[in-house]
Amino acid sequence: MRIPRRNCAIWLTTVLITVFSVALSLQIRSPVCTDSGSLFCRLYHYIGFYNLAWRLEKLTLLIKTERGFLPTAEKSDVFSHPVLWMAPFLSSGGYCSEALSYIVGMSKSGLVPYLHVEHHGDLAQEIFWRGLPADIKDIIIKSYKPERPLNNTIVICHSEPGAWYPSLFETHTCPPTGYEEPLHVIGRTMFETDRVNLEHVKRCNRMEEVWVPSDFNMKTFADSGVDPSKLVKVVQSVDVSFFSPHDVEAFPLPETGQVFALEKEESDRTSIIDHFIFLSIFKWEYRKGWHLLIKAYLREFSAKDRVALYILTNAYHTDRTYRDDIIAYVKEIGLKKPVHGWPLLYVNDYHIPQLRLPNIYKAANAFVLPSRGEGWGRPHVEAMSMGLPVIATNWSGMTEYMTETNSYPIYVERLVEVEEGPFKGHLWAEPSATHLQSLMRHVFMNPLEAEAKGQLARKTMVEKYSPEIVTKQIVGHLMRIHSKKTAKCSTDA
Ligand SMILES: *[C@@H]1O[C@H](CO)[C@@H](O)[C@H](O)[C@H]1NC(C)=O
Ligand SMILES: *[C@@H]1O[C@H](CO)[C@@H](O)[C@H](O)[C@H]1NC(C)=O
Repeated sequence: MRIPRRNCAIWLTTVLITVFSVALSLQIRSPVCTDSGSLFCRLYHYIGFYNLAWRLEKLTLLIKTERGFLPTAEKSDVFSHPVLWMAPFLSSGGYCSEALSYIVGMSKSGLVPYLHVEHHGDLAQEIFWRGLPADIKDIIIKSYKPERPLNNTIVICHSEPGAWYPSLFETHTCPPTGYEEPLHVIGRTMFETDRVNLEHVKRCNRMEEVWVPSDFNMKTFADSGVDPSKLVKVVQSVDVSFFSPHDVEAFPLPETGQVFALEKEESDRTSIIDHFIFLSIFKWEYRKGWHLLIKAYLREFSAKDRVALYILTNAYHTDRTYRDDIIAYVKEIGLKKPVHGWPLLYVNDYHIPQLRLPNIYKAANAFVLPSRGEGWGRPHVEAMSMGLPVIATNWSGMTEYMTETNSYPIYVERLVEVEEGPFKGHLWAEPSATHLQSLMRHVFMNPLEAEAKGQLARKTMVEKYSPEIVTKQIVGHLMRIHSKKTAKCSTDA
């Protein structure tokens, strides 16, 4: 490759600044700064290493993008205009991990060099931040530089519409200064029932575009009154190199939280070693279908089967009464203890740092979750990316990526009304507990078939939902929007 002269000059400056900032950081006296008390020297120390390092990075970015020096991307693929992505990056939860997977993809690809991120939506949690892998923290810190003014920026508000400007609760609103200033405003959201409530429809229609993850939401949003011309399908990505079964150790699952531990004497097998482990990860809420899961599992298995159901949960506006909830429910539906004793059942809510999640999935043989509706199904795709066979409801967000070839969809008997909460009256799925029961038995009895499906699941994730692939789709949309906008501006002028 021929390097133009201007690039040489920029590289030379870069090298000089590097040497200078390293010297400064090592407290080496510069030859021009002999009197450390002088204004000049104090100024330089005040500017400091970080500032210089920051400039250095800007400069490298400039070289990379303006001069076509990008190692991985063709210049024509690079979106070299500012993008402000606002999402609950530091909150854990579905929107958060989705948003992280997007910015990781964009940042690693080098295709969106002027990407800025800001926290928005739910409250930031320090414990979540501490558990993030170092490279993800790095990407957030580097991109955390709000760009102002916003008039040439595409802003993406990635959260539930209640957080959008003007927000219904206290948060950094998005877009920060309302809808007028930015070049273009996109709402990224999703919903798990058969419709979207009126307030959210109104908020969606204030956006110039609304990005939803699935055909399911393309339909439910349009049917609820969101302008169909604003709807764009942008699938979620999953970090297939982080959630990868290769070179990951299985984490020995702590044998705490045994639901029937008090009846230990019923069985001498209280350890899950050598057992087939069904893993389930979800918030302790009705929507996740935990009743169905408990019913199907306890009806189907007994202590005679070398099987365990391991639930990892966290409280959802409730006390931590999981064990009592389960025991009360077992009584309510009149389940009797099997002759051979209850099968192993664990429910735990210890905090798992994001960094350790792959080790947890690796410890399981299958993933199961009969939820009544999901916007996308974050643990589902993580499990699939980890090569696990997944048993989950054949409705809502999951239908975008789960098929009978790559997983085990649970038959949906009918749609039923949501009975409580703000979405009372909407419809969602009633997955068949008997089908779930037979699928769990089938997977347990046919581990080789299940394993093969798990491999197909991983293949689907790698081929269709990897950050590389989804980043390209996002960049394509950004370019489409930008060229439409600038064409419009020039005809306006
Ligand atoms: C954006 O705003 C700045 C300052 O208000 C102004 O100088 C600039 O021309 C504007 N750019 C566009 C593209 O309107
Ligand atoms: C899942 O849903 C699809 C589409 O409605 C249907 O064709 C398929 O038979 C369903 N599979 C199961 C197991 O219910």
